[in-house]
Amino acid sequence: MTNKTSIQGSWASRWIFILAATGSAVGLGNIWKFPYITGENGGGAFVLVYLVCIVLVGIPIMMAEVFIGRRARKNPINALVDVAEESEGSKKWGLIGLMGMLSGVFIFSFYSVVAGWVLHYIKVMLTGEMANVTSEQAGAAFGALLADPATLLIWHTIFSIMSIAVVAAGINKGIETATRIMMPALFVLLLILLGYAMTTDGFAAGVDFMFHFDASQLSWNAVLVALGHSFFTLSLGMGTIMAYGSYMTKKASIGKTVLAIGALDTIVALVAGLAIFPIIFANNMDPAAGSGLMFMSLPVAFGQMPFGQLFGVLFFVLVGIAAWTSAISLLEPTVAFLVEKFEMKRTSASILLGSGVWALGLACLGSFNVISDVTFFGKNTFDLLDYITANIMLPLGGILIALFAGWVVKDKFAQDELELSDTVFKLWKISMKFTAPVAVAIVLYFLLFPMS
Ligand code: PHE
Repeated sequence: MTNKTSIQGSWASRWIFILAATGSAVGLGNIWKFPYITGENGGGAFVLVYLVCIVLVGIPIMMAEVFIGRRARKNPINALVDVAEESEGSKKWGLIGLMGMLSGVFIFSFYSVVAGWVLHYIKVMLTGEMANVTSEQAGAAFGALLADPATLLIWHTIFSIMSIAVVAAGINKGIETATRIMMPALFVLLLILLGYAMTTDGFAAGVDFMFHFDASQLSWNAVLVALGHSFFTLSLGMGTIMAYGSYMTKKASIGKTVLAIGALDTIVALVAGLAIFPIIFANNMDPAAGSGLMFMSLPVAFGQMPFGQLFGVLFFVLVGIAAWTSAISLLEPTVAFLVEKFEMKRTSASILLGSGVWALGLACLGSFNVISDVTFFGKNTFDLLDYITANIMLPLGGILIALFAGWVVKDKFAQDELELSDTVFKLWKISMKFTAPVAVAIVLYFLLFPMS
Protein backbone atom coordinates (compact mmCIF):
# COMPACT_ATOMS: atom_id res chain seq x y z
CA MET A 1 0.00 0.00 0.00
CA THR A 2 1.28 3.45 -0.81
CA ASN A 3 1.47 6.28 1.64
CA LYS A 4 0.69 9.04 -0.83
CA THR A 5 -2.20 11.43 -0.37
CA SER A 6 -4.08 13.35 -3.03
CA ILE A 7 -3.45 17.06 -3.35
CA GLN A 8 -7.22 17.50 -3.29
CA GLY A 9 -7.45 16.26 0.31
CA SER A 10 -8.84 13.05 1.79
CA TRP A 11 -12.01 11.81 3.43
CA ALA A 12 -12.05 12.18 7.19
CA SER A 13 -12.74 8.47 7.71
CA ARG A 14 -13.75 5.24 6.00
CA TRP A 15 -17.33 5.98 6.94
CA ILE A 16 -17.22 9.29 5.09
CA PHE A 17 -15.91 7.56 2.00
CA ILE A 18 -18.85 5.15 2.16
CA LEU A 19 -21.22 8.07 2.55
CA ALA A 20 -19.69 10.06 -0.27
CA ALA A 21 -19.52 7.14 -2.69
CA THR A 22 -23.06 6.15 -1.75
CA GLY A 23 -24.09 9.76 -2.24
CA SER A 24 -22.69 9.53 -5.74
CA ALA A 25 -24.28 6.17 -6.45
CA VAL A 26 -27.71 6.89 -5.00
CA GLY A 27 -29.37 9.50 -7.13
CA LEU A 28 -31.87 9.98 -9.89
CA GLY A 29 -30.67 6.66 -11.26
CA ASN A 30 -32.29 4.86 -8.33
CA ILE A 31 -35.41 6.86 -7.74
CA TRP A 32 -36.30 8.27 -11.15
CA LYS A 33 -34.65 6.00 -13.70
CA PHE A 34 -34.74 2.52 -12.19
CA PRO A 35 -38.53 2.40 -11.76
CA TYR A 36 -39.27 3.78 -15.20
CA ILE A 37 -36.88 1.53 -17.11
CA THR A 38 -38.18 -1.44 -15.11
CA GLY A 39 -41.66 -0.40 -16.24
CA GLU A 40 -40.60 -0.06 -19.86
CA ASN A 41 -38.77 -3.36 -19.91
CA GLY A 42 -41.44 -5.57 -18.48
CA GLY A 43 -40.64 -5.85 -14.76
CA GLY A 44 -39.34 -8.97 -12.97
CA ALA A 45 -37.03 -10.43 -15.60
CA PHE A 46 -35.39 -7.04 -16.04
CA VAL A 47 -34.94 -6.63 -12.29
CA LEU A 48 -33.29 -10.03 -12.05
CA VAL A 49 -30.82 -9.32 -14.86
CA TYR A 50 -30.06 -5.98 -13.25
CA LEU A 51 -29.29 -7.63 -9.90
CA VAL A 52 -27.03 -10.21 -11.58
CA CYS A 53 -25.15 -7.41 -13.36
CA ILE A 54 -24.64 -5.53 -10.10
CA VAL A 55 -23.13 -8.57 -8.39
CA LEU A 56 -21.10 -10.10 -11.24
CA VAL A 57 -19.99 -7.00 -13.08
CA GLY A 58 -20.64 -3.83 -11.09
CA ILE A 59 -19.20 -4.73 -7.69
CA PRO A 60 -15.93 -6.22 -9.05
CA ILE A 61 -15.39 -3.22 -11.36
CA MET A 62 -16.07 -0.86 -8.47
CA MET A 63 -13.31 -2.58 -6.50
CA ALA A 64 -10.96 -2.04 -9.44
CA GLU A 65 -11.84 1.65 -9.71
CA VAL A 66 -11.33 2.25 -6.00
CA PHE A 67 -7.98 0.52 -5.86
CA ILE A 68 -6.61 2.26 -8.96
CA GLY A 69 -7.62 5.64 -7.57
CA ARG A 70 -6.32 4.92 -4.10
CA ARG A 71 -3.02 3.53 -5.35
CA ALA A 72 -2.16 6.57 -7.42
CA ARG A 73 -4.02 9.25 -5.45
CA LYS A 74 -4.50 11.29 -8.58
CA ASN A 75 -7.30 12.18 -10.98
CA PRO A 76 -8.49 9.23 -13.11
CA ILE A 77 -6.33 9.92 -16.17
CA ASN A 78 -3.11 10.28 -14.21
CA ALA A 79 -4.09 7.45 -11.88
CA LEU A 80 -4.48 5.05 -14.80
CA VAL A 81 -1.18 6.23 -16.30
CA ASP A 82 0.70 5.81 -12.99
CA VAL A 83 -0.73 2.41 -12.24
CA ALA A 84 -0.03 1.30 -15.82
CA GLU A 85 3.58 2.44 -15.65
CA GLU A 86 4.15 0.73 -12.32
CA SER A 87 3.11 -2.53 -13.99
CA GLU A 88 5.03 -1.70 -17.17
CA GLY A 89 1.87 -1.18 -19.17
CA SER A 90 1.14 1.43 -21.82
CA LYS A 91 0.34 5.00 -20.83
CA LYS A 92 -2.52 4.89 -23.33
CA TRP A 93 -4.71 3.33 -20.64
CA GLY A 94 -5.06 6.89 -19.41
CA LEU A 95 -7.39 7.48 -22.35
CA ILE A 96 -10.14 5.62 -20.48
CA GLY A 97 -10.12 8.57 -18.10
CA LEU A 98 -10.56 10.95 -21.00
CA MET A 99 -13.61 9.12 -22.28
CA GLY A 100 -14.87 9.10 -18.70
CA MET A 101 -14.71 12.88 -18.48
CA LEU A 102 -16.74 13.14 -21.64
CA SER A 103 -19.31 10.74 -20.16
CA GLY A 104 -19.49 12.94 -17.09
CA VAL A 105 -20.17 16.01 -19.20
CA PHE A 106 -22.87 14.26 -21.22
CA ILE A 107 -24.57 12.74 -18.18
CA PHE A 108 -24.53 15.99 -16.22
CA SER A 109 -26.25 17.84 -19.04
CA PHE A 110 -29.43 15.75 -18.92
CA TYR A 111 -29.12 14.89 -15.23
CA SER A 112 -29.34 18.53 -14.30
CA VAL A 113 -32.50 18.94 -16.37
CA VAL A 114 -34.22 16.08 -14.54
CA ALA A 115 -32.96 17.43 -11.22
CA GLY A 116 -34.58 20.69 -12.33
CA TRP A 117 -37.92 18.88 -12.61
CA VAL A 118 -37.40 17.72 -9.03
CA LEU A 119 -36.77 21.28 -7.82
CA HIS A 120 -39.92 22.41 -9.62
CA TYR A 121 -41.89 19.69 -7.85
CA ILE A 122 -40.62 20.93 -4.47
CA LYS A 123 -42.20 24.25 -5.31
CA VAL A 124 -45.40 22.70 -6.58
CA MET A 125 -45.72 20.59 -3.43
CA LEU A 126 -45.07 23.61 -1.23
CA THR A 127 -47.70 25.77 -2.89
CA GLY A 128 -50.22 22.94 -2.88
CA GLU A 129 -50.81 23.29 -6.62
CA MET A 130 -50.96 19.55 -6.93
CA ALA A 131 -53.05 18.77 -3.88
CA ASN A 132 -55.58 16.00 -4.56
CA VAL A 133 -54.73 15.60 -8.23
CA THR A 134 -56.04 12.66 -10.22
CA SER A 135 -53.61 10.63 -12.29
CA GLU A 136 -54.80 12.42 -15.46
CA GLN A 137 -54.21 15.82 -13.90
CA ALA A 138 -50.76 14.78 -12.66
CA GLY A 139 -49.89 13.59 -16.17
CA ALA A 140 -51.11 16.83 -17.71
CA ALA A 141 -49.15 18.92 -15.19
CA PHE A 142 -45.95 17.07 -16.03
CA GLY A 143 -46.59 17.53 -19.74
CA ALA A 144 -47.12 21.25 -19.20
CA LEU A 145 -43.80 21.52 -17.37
CA LEU A 146 -41.92 19.89 -20.25
CA ALA A 147 -43.57 22.25 -22.71
CA ASP A 148 -42.35 25.30 -20.78
CA PRO A 149 -38.69 26.03 -21.62
CA ALA A 150 -38.46 29.15 -19.43
CA THR A 151 -39.39 27.27 -16.25
CA LEU A 152 -37.09 24.39 -17.16
CA LEU A 153 -34.27 26.85 -17.77
CA ILE A 154 -34.63 28.48 -14.36
CA TRP A 155 -34.47 25.17 -12.48
CA HIS A 156 -31.70 23.73 -14.64
CA THR A 157 -29.64 26.86 -13.99
CA ILE A 158 -30.27 26.80 -10.24
CA PHE A 159 -29.30 23.15 -10.04
CA SER A 160 -26.16 23.67 -12.11
CA ILE A 161 -25.05 26.52 -9.85
CA MET A 162 -25.71 24.45 -6.73
CA SER A 163 -23.53 21.63 -8.08
CA ILE A 164 -20.72 23.89 -9.25
CA ALA A 165 -20.66 25.61 -5.86
CA VAL A 166 -20.17 22.37 -3.92
CA VAL A 167 -17.43 21.11 -6.22
CA ALA A 168 -15.71 24.47 -5.99
CA ALA A 169 -15.80 24.24 -2.18
CA GLY A 170 -13.68 21.09 -2.31
CA ILE A 171 -14.15 17.54 -1.20
CA ASN A 172 -14.19 17.93 2.55
CA LYS A 173 -16.36 20.92 3.13
CA GLY A 174 -18.60 20.46 0.16
CA ILE A 175 -19.22 16.84 -0.63
CA GLU A 176 -19.02 15.44 2.89
CA THR A 177 -21.47 17.83 4.44
CA ALA A 178 -24.06 17.34 1.74
CA THR A 179 -23.94 13.57 2.07
CA ARG A 180 -23.84 13.17 5.82
CA ILE A 181 -27.27 14.66 6.37
CA MET A 182 -29.13 13.50 3.32
CA MET A 183 -28.56 9.77 3.12
CA PRO A 184 -30.35 8.69 6.30
CA ALA A 185 -33.19 11.16 5.78
CA LEU A 186 -33.84 10.00 2.23
CA PHE A 187 -34.00 6.43 3.37
CA VAL A 188 -36.55 7.15 6.10
CA LEU A 189 -38.76 9.03 3.63
CA LEU A 190 -38.62 6.18 1.16
CA LEU A 191 -39.71 3.80 3.90
CA ILE A 192 -42.66 6.05 4.71
CA LEU A 193 -43.66 6.01 1.05
CA LEU A 194 -43.25 2.25 1.00
CA GLY A 195 -45.48 2.03 4.07
CA TYR A 196 -48.11 4.03 2.25
CA ALA A 197 -47.77 1.89 -0.90
CA MET A 198 -48.45 -1.19 1.22
CA THR A 199 -51.84 0.17 2.18
CA THR A 200 -52.94 0.68 -1.44
CA ASP A 201 -54.73 -2.11 -3.28
CA GLY A 202 -52.02 -2.03 -5.95
CA PHE A 203 -49.34 -3.40 -3.61
CA ALA A 204 -49.64 -7.06 -4.60
CA ALA A 205 -49.66 -6.13 -8.28
CA GLY A 206 -46.60 -3.91 -7.74
CA VAL A 207 -44.62 -6.65 -6.00
CA ASP A 208 -45.66 -9.17 -8.62
CA PHE A 209 -44.62 -6.83 -11.42
CA MET A 210 -41.16 -6.31 -9.93
CA PHE A 211 -40.36 -9.82 -8.83
CA HIS A 212 -42.27 -12.17 -11.09
CA PHE A 213 -39.76 -13.64 -13.53
CA ASP A 214 -41.23 -13.96 -16.99
CA ALA A 215 -38.49 -14.81 -19.47
CA SER A 216 -40.71 -13.92 -22.43
CA GLN A 217 -40.46 -10.28 -21.34
CA LEU A 218 -36.71 -10.28 -21.80
CA SER A 219 -35.28 -8.81 -24.98
CA TRP A 220 -31.63 -8.14 -25.80
CA ASN A 221 -32.43 -4.51 -25.48
CA ALA A 222 -33.71 -5.07 -21.93
CA VAL A 223 -30.48 -6.91 -21.04
CA LEU A 224 -28.48 -4.03 -22.46
CA VAL A 225 -30.47 -1.48 -20.50
CA ALA A 226 -30.09 -3.54 -17.30
CA LEU A 227 -26.34 -3.84 -17.77
CA GLY A 228 -25.96 -0.19 -18.68
CA HIS A 229 -27.99 0.82 -15.68
CA SER A 230 -25.83 -1.24 -13.34
CA PHE A 231 -22.93 1.02 -14.39
CA PHE A 232 -24.98 4.19 -14.24
CA THR A 233 -26.45 3.54 -10.82
CA LEU A 234 -23.10 2.60 -9.27
CA SER A 235 -21.39 5.59 -10.94
CA LEU A 236 -18.98 3.26 -12.74
CA GLY A 237 -17.09 3.38 -16.01
CA MET A 238 -16.29 7.09 -16.01
CA GLY A 239 -13.79 7.65 -13.22
CA THR A 240 -16.08 8.99 -10.51
CA ILE A 241 -15.42 6.14 -8.14
CA MET A 242 -11.73 6.24 -9.09
CA ALA A 243 -11.58 9.92 -8.14
CA TYR A 244 -13.42 9.27 -4.88
CA GLY A 245 -11.15 6.27 -4.23
CA SER A 246 -8.13 8.55 -4.53
CA TYR A 247 -9.33 10.40 -1.44
CA MET A 248 -9.85 7.19 0.56
CA THR A 249 -7.78 6.50 3.66
CA LYS A 250 -5.27 3.69 3.68
CA LYS A 251 -6.85 1.78 6.49
CA ALA A 252 -10.22 0.99 4.96
CA SER A 253 -10.90 -2.40 3.38
CA ILE A 254 -11.92 -1.92 -0.24
CA GLY A 255 -13.89 -5.16 -0.55
CA LYS A 256 -16.17 -4.56 2.43
CA THR A 257 -16.62 -0.91 1.62
CA VAL A 258 -17.63 -1.59 -1.96
CA LEU A 259 -20.09 -4.28 -0.86
CA ALA A 260 -21.72 -1.81 1.51
CA ILE A 261 -22.07 0.79 -1.25
CA GLY A 262 -23.48 -1.73 -3.72
CA ALA A 263 -25.97 -3.02 -1.15
CA LEU A 264 -27.17 0.45 -0.12
CA ASP A 265 -27.59 1.52 -3.72
CA THR A 266 -29.56 -1.60 -4.63
CA ILE A 267 -31.83 -1.35 -1.59
CA VAL A 268 -32.72 2.25 -2.39
CA ALA A 269 -33.60 1.35 -5.99
CA LEU A 270 -35.75 -1.60 -4.98
CA VAL A 271 -37.56 0.39 -2.28
CA ALA A 272 -38.19 3.20 -4.77
CA GLY A 273 -39.71 0.68 -7.18
CA LEU A 274 -41.82 -0.87 -4.43
CA ALA A 275 -43.08 2.57 -3.46
CA ILE A 276 -43.94 3.65 -7.00
CA PHE A 277 -45.44 0.59 -8.75
CA PRO A 278 -48.29 -0.04 -6.27
CA ILE A 279 -49.41 3.56 -6.81
CA ILE A 280 -49.26 3.03 -10.57
CA PHE A 281 -51.39 -0.10 -10.39
CA ALA A 282 -53.81 1.24 -7.79
CA ASN A 283 -54.57 4.19 -10.08
CA ASN A 284 -54.67 2.24 -13.35
CA MET A 285 -51.65 4.07 -14.72
CA ASP A 286 -49.25 2.68 -17.31
CA PRO A 287 -46.00 1.26 -15.85
CA ALA A 288 -44.34 1.86 -19.23
CA ALA A 289 -45.15 5.59 -19.23
CA GLY A 290 -41.45 6.50 -19.48
CA SER A 291 -39.36 9.21 -17.90
CA GLY A 292 -42.32 10.98 -16.29
CA LEU A 293 -43.32 7.92 -14.25
CA MET A 294 -42.24 9.21 -10.85
CA PHE A 295 -43.58 12.71 -11.49
CA MET A 296 -46.96 11.49 -12.63
CA SER A 297 -47.50 8.84 -9.96
CA LEU A 298 -46.18 10.17 -6.67
CA PRO A 299 -48.16 13.43 -6.54
CA VAL A 300 -51.32 11.31 -6.75
CA ALA A 301 -50.18 9.31 -3.72
CA PHE A 302 -49.23 12.42 -1.78
CA GLY A 303 -52.67 13.81 -2.50
CA GLN A 304 -54.31 10.80 -0.89
CA MET A 305 -52.20 10.12 2.18
CA PRO A 306 -52.37 11.83 5.57
CA PHE A 307 -49.80 14.68 5.82
CA GLY A 308 -49.33 14.17 2.10
CA GLN A 309 -48.26 17.71 1.41
CA LEU A 310 -45.59 17.64 4.08
CA PHE A 311 -44.28 14.26 2.91
CA GLY A 312 -44.43 15.45 -0.68
CA VAL A 313 -42.24 18.46 0.01
CA LEU A 314 -39.81 16.37 2.06
CA PHE A 315 -39.65 13.66 -0.57
CA PHE A 316 -38.77 15.96 -3.44
CA VAL A 317 -36.28 17.84 -1.26
CA LEU A 318 -34.52 14.59 -0.51
CA VAL A 319 -34.55 13.42 -4.12
CA GLY A 320 -33.11 16.82 -4.99
CA ILE A 321 -30.30 16.32 -2.49
CA ALA A 322 -29.68 12.79 -3.76
CA ALA A 323 -29.41 14.19 -7.29
CA TRP A 324 -27.11 16.92 -6.01
CA THR A 325 -24.60 14.57 -4.36
CA SER A 326 -24.52 12.56 -7.60
CA ALA A 327 -24.21 15.58 -9.86
CA ILE A 328 -21.14 16.85 -8.02
CA SER A 329 -19.52 13.46 -8.48
CA LEU A 330 -20.04 13.78 -12.22
CA LEU A 331 -17.94 16.94 -12.21
CA GLU A 332 -15.29 15.91 -9.68
CA PRO A 333 -13.02 13.75 -11.92
CA THR A 334 -12.66 16.50 -14.52
CA VAL A 335 -12.20 19.25 -11.95
CA ALA A 336 -9.50 17.18 -10.22
CA PHE A 337 -7.84 16.70 -13.60
CA LEU A 338 -7.91 20.40 -14.47
CA VAL A 339 -6.49 21.29 -11.07
CA GLU A 340 -3.71 18.71 -11.20
CA LYS A 341 -2.76 18.97 -14.85
CA PHE A 342 -3.12 22.68 -15.55
CA GLU A 343 -2.68 23.93 -11.99
CA MET A 344 -5.99 25.74 -12.21
CA LYS A 345 -7.70 26.93 -9.05
CA ARG A 346 -10.51 24.64 -7.96
CA THR A 347 -13.01 27.45 -8.25
CA SER A 348 -11.97 28.40 -11.78
CA ALA A 349 -11.94 24.76 -12.89
CA SER A 350 -15.42 24.22 -11.46
CA ILE A 351 -16.83 27.31 -13.11
CA LEU A 352 -15.21 26.51 -16.46
CA LEU A 353 -16.52 22.96 -16.55
CA GLY A 354 -19.84 23.95 -15.03
CA SER A 355 -20.52 26.55 -17.72
CA GLY A 356 -19.86 23.99 -20.43
CA VAL A 357 -22.20 21.36 -19.00
CA TRP A 358 -24.85 23.97 -18.28
CA ALA A 359 -24.76 25.05 -21.94
CA LEU A 360 -25.06 21.48 -23.18
CA GLY A 361 -27.96 21.08 -20.80
CA LEU A 362 -29.84 23.72 -22.78
CA ALA A 363 -29.99 21.33 -25.71
CA CYS A 364 -31.40 18.67 -23.39
CA LEU A 365 -34.13 20.83 -21.95
CA GLY A 366 -35.01 22.09 -25.40
CA SER A 367 -35.53 18.47 -26.46
CA PHE A 368 -38.99 18.58 -24.91
CA ASN A 369 -40.10 21.79 -26.58
CA VAL A 370 -38.28 24.21 -28.88
CA ILE A 371 -35.93 21.72 -30.51
CA SER A 372 -38.01 18.58 -30.11
CA ASP A 373 -37.81 18.02 -33.86
CA VAL A 374 -34.00 17.80 -33.80
CA THR A 375 -33.30 14.08 -33.63
CA PHE A 376 -30.34 11.78 -34.14
CA PHE A 377 -31.01 8.12 -34.89
CA GLY A 378 -34.64 8.82 -34.01
CA LYS A 379 -33.80 10.20 -30.56
CA ASN A 380 -33.94 13.76 -29.27
CA THR A 381 -30.82 15.21 -27.64
CA PHE A 382 -31.92 14.30 -24.12
CA ASP A 383 -32.64 10.67 -25.00
CA LEU A 384 -29.55 10.40 -27.15
CA LEU A 385 -27.17 11.56 -24.40
CA ASP A 386 -28.89 9.29 -21.88
CA TYR A 387 -28.69 6.35 -24.30
CA ILE A 388 -25.09 6.66 -25.42
CA THR A 389 -23.72 7.29 -21.93
CA ALA A 390 -25.58 4.61 -20.01
CA ASN A 391 -25.68 1.99 -22.73
CA ILE A 392 -22.41 2.51 -24.57
CA MET A 393 -19.83 4.81 -22.95
CA LEU A 394 -20.10 3.61 -19.33
CA PRO A 395 -20.11 -0.12 -20.24
CA LEU A 396 -17.19 0.49 -22.61
CA GLY A 397 -15.29 2.39 -19.91
CA GLY A 398 -16.09 -0.43 -17.49
CA ILE A 399 -14.89 -3.17 -19.82
CA LEU A 400 -11.61 -1.32 -20.39
CA ILE A 401 -11.08 -0.77 -16.67
CA ALA A 402 -11.73 -4.48 -16.08
CA LEU A 403 -9.31 -5.52 -18.82
CA PHE A 404 -6.72 -3.12 -17.45
CA ALA A 405 -7.10 -4.36 -13.87
CA GLY A 406 -7.22 -8.01 -14.95
CA TRP A 407 -4.51 -8.21 -17.60
CA VAL A 408 -2.16 -5.26 -17.08
CA VAL A 409 -1.90 -4.53 -13.36
CA LYS A 410 0.44 -6.96 -11.60
CA ASP A 411 -1.23 -9.13 -8.95
CA LYS A 412 1.05 -7.91 -6.21
CA PHE A 413 0.04 -4.29 -6.73
CA ALA A 414 -3.65 -5.11 -6.92
CA GLN A 415 -3.49 -7.27 -3.83
CA ASP A 416 -1.44 -4.67 -2.02
CA GLU A 417 -4.52 -2.42 -2.16
CA LEU A 418 -7.36 -4.94 -2.16
CA GLU A 419 -5.99 -7.28 0.53
CA LEU A 420 -8.51 -10.00 -0.34
CA SER A 421 -8.28 -13.64 0.75
CA ASP A 422 -6.76 -15.88 -1.93
CA THR A 423 -10.09 -17.33 -3.04
CA VAL A 424 -11.87 -14.01 -3.27
CA PHE A 425 -8.92 -12.52 -5.13
CA LYS A 426 -9.05 -15.35 -7.67
CA LEU A 427 -12.77 -14.78 -8.17
CA TRP A 428 -12.19 -11.09 -8.60
CA LYS A 429 -9.45 -11.74 -11.19
CA ILE A 430 -11.74 -14.07 -13.14
CA SER A 431 -14.36 -11.36 -13.19
CA MET A 432 -11.85 -8.75 -14.41
CA LYS A 433 -10.22 -10.95 -17.03
CA PHE A 434 -13.27 -12.78 -18.34
CA THR A 435 -16.75 -12.43 -16.82
CA ALA A 436 -17.14 -8.66 -16.90
CA PRO A 437 -15.51 -8.00 -20.30
CA VAL A 438 -17.26 -10.93 -21.98
CA ALA A 439 -20.66 -9.99 -20.58
CA VAL A 440 -20.29 -6.40 -21.70
CA ALA A 441 -18.89 -7.42 -25.11
CA ILE A 442 -21.82 -9.77 -25.81
CA VAL A 443 -24.35 -7.15 -24.90
CA LEU A 444 -22.64 -4.43 -26.95
CA TYR A 445 -22.44 -6.84 -29.88
CA PHE A 446 -26.19 -7.34 -29.82
CA LEU A 447 -26.68 -3.63 -29.56
CA LEU A 448 -24.68 -3.00 -32.73
CA PHE A 449 -26.02 -6.03 -34.61
CA PRO A 450 -29.53 -6.50 -33.30
CA MET A 451 -31.33 -9.77 -33.97
CA SER A 452 -34.52 -9.13 -35.78
N1 PHE B 1 -25.09 7.00 -9.95
C1 PHE B 1 -25.82 8.19 -10.20
C2 PHE B 1 -27.32 7.89 -10.08
O1 PHE B 1 -27.73 6.77 -9.96
C3 PHE B 1 -25.50 8.80 -11.53
C4 PHE B 1 -24.04 8.89 -11.81
C5 PHE B 1 -23.50 8.18 -12.88
C6 PHE B 1 -23.20 9.63 -11.00
C7 PHE B 1 -22.16 8.21 -13.14
C8 PHE B 1 -21.84 9.68 -11.25
C9 PHE B 1 -21.32 8.96 -12.31
O2 PHE B 1 -28.11 8.77 -10.15
